[in-house]
Amino acid sequence: MKTRLIWISLLIGLTSLSLAQAPKGKGKGKGRQPTTGPGEQQRPYQDLWIPPLLTGKNIDLSLDKNRKSFWPGASTATYGYDNAAFWGPTVILNQGDAVNLRVKNNLDEVTTVHWHGLHLPAAMDGGPHQPIKPGDSWTSSFVVKNNAATYWYHPHPHEMTQKQMTYGAGGLIIIRDLIESKLALPRTYGVDDIPLVFTSRRFYSNNEFSFEGDDDKYGDYLLANGVLDAQVTLPAQFVRLRILNAEIERGYDLGFSDNRTFYVIGTDGGLLDKPVPITGMKLMVGERVELLVNLSDDKPGTSLELVAYNEGQKFGFPGSEPGRGGVNGSLLNNLNFRMLHINVGPKTSQPITRIPEVLTHNRFWTEAEVNNRRSLAIYKARGGSTFSFDYKPFDMHTTNHVVKLGDVEAWTIDNDRTFGHSFHIHDVQFKIISRSDGPVPAYEQGWKDTLYAPSGSRVTFIAKFEDYASNTDAFMYHCHMANHEDSGLMGQFLVSKDPSALKRNSAGVIEFRQKVEHPLTPSMMSKIERQAATPAPAFAKTDLKGNALSLAALTATKPLVLYFIERECPCARDAAPFMDQLQAACGDNCTVVGVINAGTEVANAWIQTVGNRFPILADPDCSIIRAYGAECAAYTTLVAPGGTIVKTYPGYSAETLKELSAQIARLSRSAERPMKLDNAPQHLVVGCPLGRASITVSN
Ligand code: C2O
Ligand code: CU
Repeated sequence: MKTRLIWISLLIGLTSLSLAQAPKGKGKGKGRQPTTGPGEQQRPYQDLWIPPLLTGKNIDLSLDKNRKSFWPGASTATYGYDNAAFWGPTVILNQGDAVNLRVKNNLDEVTTVHWHGLHLPAAMDGGPHQPIKPGDSWTSSFVVKNNAATYWYHPHPHEMTQKQMTYGAGGLIIIRDLIESKLALPRTYGVDDIPLVFTSRRFYSNNEFSFEGDDDKYGDYLLANGVLDAQVTLPAQFVRLRILNAEIERGYDLGFSDNRTFYVIGTDGGLLDKPVPITGMKLMVGERVELLVNLSDDKPGTSLELVAYNEGQKFGFPGSEPGRGGVNGSLLNNLNFRMLHINVGPKTSQPITRIPEVLTHNRFWTEAEVNNRRSLAIYKARGGSTFSFDYKPFDMHTTNHVVKLGDVEAWTIDNDRTFGHSFHIHDVQFKIISRSDGPVPAYEQGWKDTLYAPSGSRVTFIAKFEDYASNTDAFMYHCHMANHEDSGLMGQFLVSKDPSALKRNSAGVIEFRQKVEHPLTPSMMSKIERQAATPAPAFAKTDLKGNALSLAALTATKPLVLYFIERECPCARDAAPFMDQLQAACGDNCTVVGVINAGTEVANAWIQTVGNRFPILADPDCSIIRAYGAECAAYTTLVAPGGTIVKTYPGYSAETLKELSAQIARLSRSAERPMKLDNAPQHLVVGCPLGRASITVSN
């Protein structure tokens, strides 16, 4: 049995401080005490780490194993993106951009990366259905549609989210848009615009993170951007704090040590209409908030604390349990504790000195527009110890809800009396319209993707499910407490253009594409092998730009590469830039043509996300695809001048691309031109429409 590291002096310091000095319950008005005390001062402050920025339309991230020194002596095994020692870079995206976010998994275990809060196609969402195997990469391509706000990315692999987040995997996403950029707000990253990611960890005596599932939902030591006992120096002017609660389970009741008023300007998915002045607010797991804090009247050299006033919370507030250890306890439970020590420094040269009165004009969906309602009940599973929605623990092969594309829906989260939860839904930003636990606070009346449902409460929100539909790729909703999510408090929904068209069998089961290894069965392999040296099936169509393309014309003098695209297959997307390269490398000596299993509208949207230059044929009825035996639409066929198939390749691996360029050089009797294939897809992974599994629709 490993024993946990306990810093006795801190424990005594914090405990006695909290019990002796902090006001009982939540102090309103004067009297909220700072939590610096003799115990804590035994550990020096450490400077807050500001994550580096990643900008542009093509972002590369890798998830790596690392180590970080938290305590004297041994360092701690961690995960971080782009080799960060804990956490990862902040990704800046601009509304309206078509972006490609490429993630390489350098762990020895499967991961996924979910873009929390972003509105994008389900296949690009990075939920448990888009696994990235060790050594593999995955590219998520989409157009940035969200408002300017603070979002985040984090792993979402099936039943392993808590583990990978515990090790530190995560990062912030800041979206900018034209409305926000025009406002006079603090916007100098790391100077007056500060990213703050809070979480807590428990350590073993060998300094490793303690990770025993539910047992470690509450950490003993607070980390600010991965730093213990963090301090930061902020200029004496208005500063903007972008705060994320990245805990496994703990909530925070935020405030400042001198009880000063601060201004909420933004919620999870955008700016509020107007700044909301408050002295305290709850921020639960997965939620973000943007605050303005006025330090103009603070003298440089003075300091204040950002504090979690977590003592004396109502039953069900995560982290209100009194124990100091064990399953439900921790050294930070039921205490007011310091989150960040703020030193006031000199003003910058162009300080923000006042708050805009109006931030934006949000148009929220209203009750009158609601065309469907549903209710999700959170229960402790019958006879079990874990939570679920409607007594149905998460099952990868069950679609719990089907939403019609374009519907405005009201969802009620009906929480039983067992505990509080932090409910999160993918795909949409919503507006909370009612809470049974009291009025919806003004600071919560903005775009949200995560909400706190206290024990025994009902919370209703309205959202519009627009833009992205798929009968095969699901979105998730779940409790964002990673231990609850991993143990089954999660469900999935499809957004469908025509829910009634989902193919159901007699048992009410609909067809659902299972994300599995590409099923290259021996019979499929022999079928494509038999194509070699046979005449290529003729076709004559116009491409998406309206140019006539026929096999005869395309192969009159040059070799032709037919790149079959399964429209929702990430590998097909990954391959697009390399097909571009292939066309560029062979110049006038070959033609690359994409064939996609989609109509023109979807095909055009697909092109937008990859930005390729070669012609694409929309093949909605799969007539060309079938004629070439490429039912999986994940093949590449090389046709020689004159129209004979040279070879059909399963997929678009780096090897295939290399062989194609050599073959083209040979067929066109020209020198082979090199391609950069370092990041080419290694093989096909997912997305074959033939790999169907059945799933149950439970509503
Ligand atoms: Cu923050 Cu399902 O995710
Ligand atoms: Cu929960």
